[in-house]
Amino acid sequence: MHSSTWTSLLLLGLANLVPDASARPSACPPPVKPGKAIYTITNEKQNSVIALPIGSDGLLYQGTSTPTGGSGSNALTASGKTTAPAAPDALVSQSALTVVGNNLFAVNAGSNTVTMFAIDPKNPTRLTMLGKPIAIPGDFPTTVAASAKNQLVCVGATGAKSGISCAPFSSRGIGKMDQLRPIGLNQTTPPVGPPNTISQVFFSADEETLFATVKGDPTANTKGVLGVFGVEPPCNGRGAATVSEEGKLTQVDGSIVLFGSSAIQGSSDLFVTDAAFGAAVLSVDAKTGAASIKGKATIDGQGATCWAAISPETNTAFVTDVAVNRIVEVSLTDASIQSITDLNNGDPGLIDIRAAGSFVYALSPGNGTTLPAVTVMDVVTKKQVQHFQLKGLGASKNAQGVAVLL
Ligand SMILES: *[C@@H]1O[C@H](CO)[C@@H](O)[C@H](O)[C@H]1NC(C)=O
Ligand SMILES: *[C@@H]1O[C@H](CO)[C@@H](O)[C@H](O)[C@H]1NC(C)=O
Repeated sequence: MHSSTWTSLLLLGLANLVPDASARPSACPPPVKPGKAIYTITNEKQNSVIALPIGSDGLLYQGTSTPTGGSGSNALTASGKTTAPAAPDALVSQSALTVVGNNLFAVNAGSNTVTMFAIDPKNPTRLTMLGKPIAIPGDFPTTVAASAKNQLVCVGATGAKSGISCAPFSSRGIGKMDQLRPIGLNQTTPPVGPPNTISQVFFSADEETLFATVKGDPTANTKGVLGVFGVEPPCNGRGAATVSEEGKLTQVDGSIVLFGSSAIQGSSDLFVTDAAFGAAVLSVDAKTGAASIKGKATIDGQGATCWAAISPETNTAFVTDVAVNRIVEVSLTDASIQSITDLNNGDPGLIDIRAAGSFVYALSPGNGTTLPAVTVMDVVTKKQVQHFQLKGLGASKNAQGVAVLL
């Protein structure tokens, strides 16, 4: 007999003896695919996007820095009668940059522009600018949202001319930004915050609605405001989708300093943070713009809970606080607190956060003494698995925003 037949027979025999691993019922769920890269902006005078690759282990590795062609800036914070440039949290916002598909959009608060990049899917830290940075018709852009389904990008500007402007985008770049949807903040450029500024723009889970969260001002007794703008399909099925000019701005009872948010998949509810107390689940009627608090988390010992990410792995939200170095997990149904992870890694606190795979990635810009760093936490064990310091990439305490390529 030919030797390969012997081998086949032998293998057949072995196959009968060794239980088939793939057929064996496993107690463990299949591993969740990790993200591919995370991004942040330096928000320096020469603004740049820092890209860090995520390994198959979910951890971060040394990355790249790519200029946006625009300038960063700092909001001002008031202390008594004087103001000082804000940092960390230079832009008092969530989503200073965003990723949809293989495209990345980043704001340039100091030059009133937004920059679009193509991400090389084979090498996600390689960014190529598409067109030039596009001028927006407002001052001090701090937050950007994009919809892959509608090929739309929207920017929130929170300076003297405040409001939301949108544009179509394609593989060639961003089109013309449309007329500003005013928010009426009566701000300056740079704005004095964090109160009374736009916090974030973001699309609903079905991408049919654009939302904006706006901070109230506890000293002026104003509430948080939710902006709701419908997406309108192309006229007669031709051309580009647009965002309605006729939005609704609704004061949300029980909210004060509405901040970072996330649409909850498969629901019309929104998960929001509120710097005045913690976090909440809002039920929202996208047609009327009506919004009310469905559940509320008052986080003991919080300084300013401002950023949120929903992990599909745990189906819970993780929130951060610029003044307290911990990550708090909150329920998406009633906003009850699920876990608190103290980090003890030397950071003063955390700002923007994103979820991918079994991990969350949270940025601490540091404070000038401590270096900027990204904390990677396992959402299942609730343990820090990495504290990645941003070195040699031009980041300082002005760094802002986190976006992730899934
Ligand atoms: C706008 O702000 C300025 C000072 O920054 C203030 O004097 C003025 O009264 C404000 N206007 C309104 C309508 O609130
Ligand atoms: C920066 O943060 C560290 C850690 O919380 C703290 O020890 C230090 O005093 C802070 N420095 C400044 C300038 O605020």
